[in-house]
This record gives sequence, C-alpha cells and structure tokens, in this order.
Amino acid sequence: MTRVLLVGPGAIGLTVAGAVLQRPEMALAVAARTPFDTIAVELDEERIECEVPVLTDPFAITGPFHLVLLGTKAHQTPAVAPWLAAACGPDTDVVVLQNGITHRERVEPLIGPASLVPAVVNIPADREAPGHVRVGFRRHLVVPDDGPGRRTAHRFTDTFLDVDTTADWHTAAWRKLVMNAVVGTITVLTRTTNTVLLDRDARTLAVALADEVQQVAIADGAALEPRDYGPVIDLVGDAGGDHRSSMTTDRVNGVPSEWRVRNLDVIQRAEKHGVDVPLFRHLTTLVRLGEPSDRP
Ligand SMILES: NC(=O)c1ccc[n+]([C@@H]2O[C@H](COP(=O)([O-])OP(=O)(O)OC[C@H]3O[C@@H](n4cnc5c(N)ncnc54)[C@H](OP(=O)(O)O)[C@@H]3O)[C@@H](O)[C@H]2O)c1
Repeated sequence: MTRVLLVGPGAIGLTVAGAVLQRPEMALAVAARTPFDTIAVELDEERIECEVPVLTDPFAITGPFHLVLLGTKAHQTPAVAPWLAAACGPDTDVVVLQNGITHRERVEPLIGPASLVPAVVNIPADREAPGHVRVGFRRHLVVPDDGPGRRTAHRFTDTFLDVDTTADWHTAAWRKLVMNAVVGTITVLTRTTNTVLLDRDARTLAVALADEVQQVAIADGAALEPRDYGPVIDLVGDAGGDHRSSMTTDRVNGVPSEWRVRNLDVIQRAEKHGVDVPLFRHLTTLVRLGEPSDRP
C-alpha cells in the first residue's frame, strides 16, 4: 500500500485527493484544521465520494508516509510545519500544490530528508463545504522531470488528473505566474471575476502589466517568447468564465491572501535582475494596502 497524507484539504487538495481515491493501491488520510468525514469531488462527468480518516493532531501520526500532498495556501505553509515534520521520512515525496515559483524555498526547510515535488496547478476548483469540492474544466499538474516528479506522474496514471513532467519546470511555473500576477492584481483590486478581462480597458491594462512581468520572467531564466500572452488573456476572460481567483476570494472574505507569492516575489526578482516594473510595483502597493495584516 502507498500511504498518502493530504495536508490542507481545500479546493485543490481535495481535487488531487479525489484522483488518489481512484487508485486502489493508495491509502489516503487527511490532516485538517476543520474536521469532516467524507470527501466528495464533483467532476462534470462523475462524482467521487468516500469516507476517509481525518486527523486533527500531528501527534496522531505514526511513521512516515510515501506521498504527502501539500494543499494549503502558500502563506499558510509555516502553520503546517508540525504535520510535515511528522509525516516525512527519507522515502517520502512531498508534492507542493501551490501557485508561484518559490515552492522549494518555502517548503524544503520543513521536510527533512523527504523529496520535494513542486507542482504547477492548472485546476479551477471551488470548495463548496468542508470535504466537498467542485472541479472545473482542466485537471492538470506539471512537475519536474526528475525521479520524484516521474514517480508522482506514474502514481496518478489512469486517474482523472493529468500529471505531466517537464525538463524546464521553471519556465512552466513562470508562465503561470505571469498570468496569475496580472489577472490576480486586476481582479483583487476590482473584486471581480476573470470576465473583467472582457472589458477593453482592463485588457489593455493586463497587457501592460504582462509586458513588465514577462520581462522579469525572462531575466530570471524563463524561456518565454516576448509578448505571447494576448491570446492567453483573452482565453482567461472568456473560457475562464465567471471563475474568481482564490486570491480574490480571500480578499472579498477579508482574510490574508497569497499576494507575496504572486506579487512580492515578482518585485524581488525584478530588483535582483535590475528590471524596471513601475506599473506592477504601484498596483502591488494597492494590493498590499488592502491586506488585513500588511497595512501600516
Ligand atoms: N482554487 C483554485 O481554483 C486554484 C487554482 C490553481 C491554483 N491554486 C493554488 O492552489 C493552492 C491551494 O489553493 P486552494 O484554493 O485549494 O486553497 P483553500 O481552498 O483555501 O485550501 C487551503 C486548505 O488549507 C487548510 N489549512 C490552512 N491552514 C491550515 C492548518 N494550519 N492546518 C491544517 N490545514 C490548514 C485550509 O483549512 P480549512 O479547511 O480550515 O479552511 C484549507 O482546507 C494555492 O496556492 C492556490 O493559489 C488554486
């Protein structure tokens, strides 16, 4: 049996857990802050439902797991350090299901001898209730083409979740971050869904922001073609439908958001590489001032 622990059963963690439940050789447990009994994953074509053991105390863990799925928001990672310490051993793969480009810096210090698998998450999902998630039109992770990454992709064979490996994970992560930084900044400040990008002025602003952020990505080593994002912005506004980014949901709910991994990390890389991002920097100031805990 492959022992699997999901730490942080939110929208994305529950979705990936649903794929684990499709593999009979994997035994799933959940480390939760808010307890529940049953996981229910709503896909367009089917519903996966299963009772699972839910733990609320890291001291209840006996021995390491083979696979740990980290599904908290990036800024919630330090709070789950006791879970990671209890669940990780030399044979553990820790899949970090978070946005951004700094998975390794954030999580590697917390997992001892375990192997880290950073994932680019392409899954629009909304949690409806504790343990219950509705999953949108894409179910796709991108992980590095190394031993732990290939092992992870293999584990999800024949499930609804596509896990691809890439020799250039850094570029894949930056490609997503360019869009997250641009779309997140606009939707957080306007408290809107992605359809705001159908507005002509909002689209012009998105392109101007993407111009700046993509220069940072390229300076940071991402193999992105300059100015290739127009169609992507159109797709996010159109096919993305009324999806509200998780950062915007947090802002609307008045709780801390992931602005550091979506905005501050970009600005710090811009400073490191000497790239000027005046528009993105000023809008990030407004994003920061709207955070519950980052105002003066
Ligand atoms: N949702 C999307 O559509 C989407 C798409 C692509 C990428 N992402 C990225 O995926 C990552 C996860 O996002 P999400 O939307 O899945 O977040 P989420 O729904 O807010 O889930 C976070 C989970 O972590 C749990 N948690 C937080 N602190 C904890 C603690 N101290 N102990 C135990 N559990 C704790 C939360 O507990 P509670 O149950 O108590 O709230 C919740 O279950 C983020 O980096 C996000 O940017 C999200």
